Amino acid sequence: MTRPEAPVITVDGPSGAGKGTLCEALATRLGWHFLDSGALYRVLALDGQQAGVALDDAETLAARARSLALRFAPGGAVWLGDQDVSLAIRTDAAGQAASQVAALLPVREALLARQRDFAQAPGLVADGRDMGTVVFPEAPLKIFLSASAPARAERRYKQLKEKGLDANLRALLDSIQARDERDQARSASPLRPADDALVIDSTALAIDDVFGAVWRAALQRGLCAEG
Ligand code: C5P
Repeated sequence: MTRPEAPVITVDGPSGAGKGTLCEALATRLGWHFLDSGALYRVLALDGQQAGVALDDAETLAARARSLALRFAPGGAVWLGDQDVSLAIRTDAAGQAASQVAALLPVREALLARQRDFAQAPGLVADGRDMGTVVFPEAPLKIFLSASAPARAERRYKQLKEKGLDANLRALLDSIQARDERDQARSASPLRPADDALVIDSTALAIDDVFGAVWRAALQRGLCAEG
């Protein structure tokens, strides 16, 4: 594998652990790029569904992944061709569909190079499930952020409500548990901490505390300056 062009901080963990918030804060503070790798799987699943492709048709989905017209616009909007899919990919059903296509090895391989291309100067903060184990194994700082399933369901519930989307706490907890199970049990890049990851359980931590712990680790590795 070729070395990434720039330093990478990887943040992996189950859905709803607070990875997105942490990554955005880190990328903003460092002035680095941000890769939301889950969005790739979400957009691919949506693209497949719109084209009538079964979510277990690995070869067709992998072929579509290679030419996926996905674009991250400045400001955070996500585009599929000429459609703004920013909201459509954030529903719980879209997350479930994403985790189905993400279990397919040909799909993961098809998205690998596209993810590595995000490692551009001055640096990249990469959010996902296999950023530290598979996509950027040479990253100088790897974080694995977890939290209990009920805490994650509650956070996701608040996020969806804030976006004006429908949400049901019990259904979200069931869905998070189903997604955890699928993400951890799959043979292709299962969700697990890298051997050299800093593991943080955010169940009882505020985002500022999580950020502080990661910032200290980044300082120790010379990835950022004091202040
Ligand atoms: O992070 P997010 O919830 O958007 O990811 C949606 C789904 O995509 C996850 O449940 C997981 O199955 C899959 N995923 C993955 N590898 C990544 C990022 C996401 O398998 N690096």
